[in-house]
Amino acid sequence: MAAAAKSSSSKTKSAKPRRTRRTSRRDPLAITLLKKDHREVEGWFDEYEQLEKDAEKLELFNKIALALKVHTQIEEEIFYPENRGEVEDDLMDEAYVEHDGAKKLIAEIEAMKPGEEFYDAKVKVLGEYIKHHVKEEEQPGGMFAQAKKGDEDLEAMGERLKLRKEELMTQLGGKSAH
Ligand SMILES: [Fe+2]
Ligand SMILES: [Fe+2]
Repeated sequence: MAAAAKSSSSKTKSAKPRRTRRTSRRDPLAITLLKKDHREVEGWFDEYEQLEKDAEKLELFNKIALALKVHTQIEEEIFYPENRGEVEDDLMDEAYVEHDGAKKLIAEIEAMKPGEEFYDAKVKVLGEYIKHHVKEEEQPGGMFAQAKKGDEDLEAMGERLKLRKEELMTQLGGKSAH
């Protein structure tokens, strides 16, 4: 008798919608855009390793350099300062210093030609350096995670990052944009 009562009450169970989507897992636009840049440039560093011709290396490095200049600039103009206060100061300061290190290495490589001694090694080290930096931004408890917990509107910030990126790609891209 008890069993019969149980089975009849369980019939209505399936009507309930299951909430499987965790809204906190979806990144706001600012984070989505910056992560997309990260994946793109990481892919290019991997691609670089497969290249043998100097002309191809130069072309790909120019693409990497432009992407990194634009990305670090939009972070420094918009994302970092606007999240200052939401993110631990030490972490934020280290990110700026890492950007500076990357910029110096980019400038060194730009002053060289593929085929020159240490060219490939410098590109490789830049790639490793960037991967380290990106990890610090994206890892649990890192810069992006802290920013997401903060009060800034990261959707609206994403729109501004996008616009500024477009402007800078045109401005800095010039000859190598096509
Ligand atoms: Fe960064
Ligand atoms: Fe970044």
